[in-house]
This record gives sequence, C-alpha cells and structure tokens, in this order.
Amino acid sequence: MDKIRIRGGQQLTGTIPISGAKNAALPLMAASLLTDETLTLNNLPHLADIVTMANLLAQLGVKMHLNGHATEGGHAGRVFELTAGDVGETTAPYDLVRKMRASILVLGPLVARHGRAQVSLPGGCAIGTRPVDLHLKGLAQLGAEIELREGYVHATAPRGLTGAKIVFPMVSVGATENLMMAACLAEGETQLVNAAREPEIVDLATCLVAMGANIDGIGTDRLRIVGCRKLHGTTHMVVPDRIEIGTFAMAAAITRGDLELVGARLDLIGAVVEALTQAGVRVQETERGLRVSRAADDLVGVDVMTEPYPGFPTDMQAQMMALMTTASGAAMITETIFENRFMHVPELARMGASINVHGASAMVRGVPRLTGAPVMATDLRASVSLVLAGLAAEGDTILNRVYHLDRGYEQLVEKLAACGAEIERLKA
Ligand code: EPZ
Repeated sequence: MDKIRIRGGQQLTGTIPISGAKNAALPLMAASLLTDETLTLNNLPHLADIVTMANLLAQLGVKMHLNGHATEGGHAGRVFELTAGDVGETTAPYDLVRKMRASILVLGPLVARHGRAQVSLPGGCAIGTRPVDLHLKGLAQLGAEIELREGYVHATAPRGLTGAKIVFPMVSVGATENLMMAACLAEGETQLVNAAREPEIVDLATCLVAMGANIDGIGTDRLRIVGCRKLHGTTHMVVPDRIEIGTFAMAAAITRGDLELVGARLDLIGAVVEALTQAGVRVQETERGLRVSRAADDLVGVDVMTEPYPGFPTDMQAQMMALMTTASGAAMITETIFENRFMHVPELARMGASINVHGASAMVRGVPRLTGAPVMATDLRASVSLVLAGLAAEGDTILNRVYHLDRGYEQLVEKLAACGAEIERLKA
C-alpha cells in the first residue's frame, strides 16, 4: 500500500485550485437515475469514491462518458455525461455498497422511477454506526414497501410513490437527498421538515429544478416538492468542495503560510472562517477566491462544536484539532454528529499533541511543536488532519493507508507540493 512522506516545517505559499465537492457530486450522479435523458456534470472531482459510484451506476445500466483534461495547476475538473436510458438492473450489490456508504443514494431514485430497488444495507463504519433508518422510514411514508432480507433493503412501489409530510427526528444529509430525489417523481406534494441545509443539498436541489422538478424552500430546513411524471436532462456545475477549502485554509494557518484558494467561496465556509478568525487567521476574499494567512504571530485556542450546516462541519473537526495542537492555550472540540470521530487523537498524540478526550469532547492543550512520526488513520478526514500535523511538525511523518485520502482529496500531494510542501507519495 502506498504511503505519504512529509518533511515538516515549510511555509506554504502560492495558489491551490479547489475541486468540485465529492459530497455534492455523489448524489448528483445518483440523480441521473431519475431521467432517461443525459445529465451532464461539470467540475466533477477525480476521486476513488466517484469511480465507485460510476461503477455502481454502470452496473445499473447507466451509460457514461467522460470528457475534459487536467488543467493548469493540477485542477482536473471533468465533464461527465450520464444517461440512464435502459435501467434494467435495480440491485446495488454488497461489494460496491460496502466500499462506499453513499451508494444508498441510488435507492430513492430507483424506487421512484422503476418501482423497485434492492440495495445492500451499508454496514458499520469507522466513524460511527451510521444507520439508514431515516431513509427507509421516509420511503415507506412515500408509499414504498420496505423489507430487509439477507442484508439487503428490498423496496417496491409498483404503482409509484405518493407525496407525504416527512418530519425528520434528526438532521440527515443523506436521507434529505434520497427523499428529495424520490419525491420529485412521486404523485402530489411532499414536505421534508427538519431537512438538512448543507450546500451540497442546495446544489442537488438546484440541479433537480433544472431537470424540471418543483422544489420550494431550497436552502431552508423545510422543503416542499411537487412531484412530476418525468424529469429531463440538464447541464450542471458541481459546487466547490467546502471541506477542501477549509482543509487548505488550515494548511496555510498551521504552516504560517499564505495561500490563495482559487474557486473558494466564503459563503460555503462561514462557521469555519469564524473559528479561524478567532484563532488569529486572516481570510480575505480575492477576485479568484480566498486568501488565507496568519493575522497574529501565535494562534490562540478556540472552542468548536460540530453541528449540521450552517454550524461547524463534522468533516472539518479533525483538521481543526490538528490546528489547535500548537495554538497557545486550550481548545475544547466537541463532536455531536458522529459517535466515534476521534480516531485521529491517539495518532496526533504520537506526534506530541496534548489531547484529553471526555465523551464527545476533546480538550486540546497547545504544545510548542509537534514532531514527525509514522501514523495511520481510519477515515478520510482523520487522515488529512495527520497530513496537516505533518506539515507543521519537526522531522518526517509517514502516513499509512493513503487510500482514505484518495477517496476525497483530488491531487492532494501535488497541490501541497506546488506550494512548497516537502511531501511525496511512496509507491508500495
Ligand atoms: C454525509 O454523510 C457526508 N457524506 C459525510 O461526509 C458527512 O460527515 C455527513 O453527511 C455529516 O455532514 C456524504 O455526503 C456522501 P448524515 P451522511 O445522514 O449523509 C445519523 C466525509 O468525510 N443518521 O447527515 O451519511 C448518522 O448516524 C463524510 O466526506 C441516522 O441515525 O450523514 C449521524 O450520526 C463522512 N439515521 C447523523 O445522523 C439515518 O437514517 C448525520 O448523518 C441517517 C443518519
């Protein structure tokens, strides 16, 4: 398995192009199942999870065509055409779903358009149990018959789905996406109450509207969808990846660097910028994106708590913790979305960080410096937090299990190296 070697201590300067968002691209790809016409997605990131979704859609009979090239600066925004003309197969098999939980997003579109779907139940996950009960209850409320057999969800709605009022007991990004897609082809009106409001949901809703769907309340926690018989094709540009923006902003901050993040948008990362500003980081809008540098010589500890959007994102929690390890004073970091998302803590501790975990909170006490070490991570964001720590640490850090990073960061090593990081991928 490949590894990444980082020699810490370089200040990062230069520009980094921001890719399209993985977590927007995955549901958008699943939305292609809602129509027999072509959905064209621009600015698609080149990532392992996108390949997994493409493999799943290919298995379901979706025809795909990829255009476009890597552009200057390593940005590889691609144009992807998906046509779900003859979807004969409606099974998402275990082998693909176990690789990526977002595979569950084909369930709503398949049942809505074809009246049936069999999707393997995603298993447990490194960051928590992550059930899909809200997806299933919601589909049942739209009239689908749901059975769980042999590890699969069997959903049927031979006469189609019917609109309903669905009140989510907790905010779920995936359930909101799945049910919003299904409701577009249901008969009558669906209301989704306490819906997720993440920018990726807004991006999906915007694309669905361009495909002919009737959706009101986009960007709020109350979505009203009036179903229609048929959706049509469209061309849609995937929203920039706010987690990539936040991650590189932290890379500038932790290395005392100065980076321009091309394509980045302030409105996507309000809560992260607020925390960074309090910590002593300067974030300025430029003509092309955002510029991030230190406002103060030393960073100060800032408390953060993860929350659904517009709160501080759980997908930035590990990176914020890495940044806080060398801030002066203490920072209390509380995770409220997933129950097991502190797997980076023991690895950061091996690099010299001082962190105490009590339940859902981690108390980080700043240390003067981190030291490089061999480290290992169990999920995507934990892995990138160790890369950030490695960039600031004295000496060499070797990161194992690089495949986690390949799932969600496009050309991470190349983008950082272009700004002066001493970082290389060691082939197995
Ligand atoms: C999405 O996951 C993202 N994935 C995650 O990104 C992100 O961490 C998460 O939203 C929260 O922002 C994609 O968009 C592909 P949820 P999702 O349903 O949709 C519980 C990354 O690193 N829940 O909003 O699976 C669940 O267990 C990742 O890119 C239920 O109890 O998250 C969790 O505690 C990882 N029942 C909470 O809700 C359900 O049916 C929020 O999960 C569904 C969710």
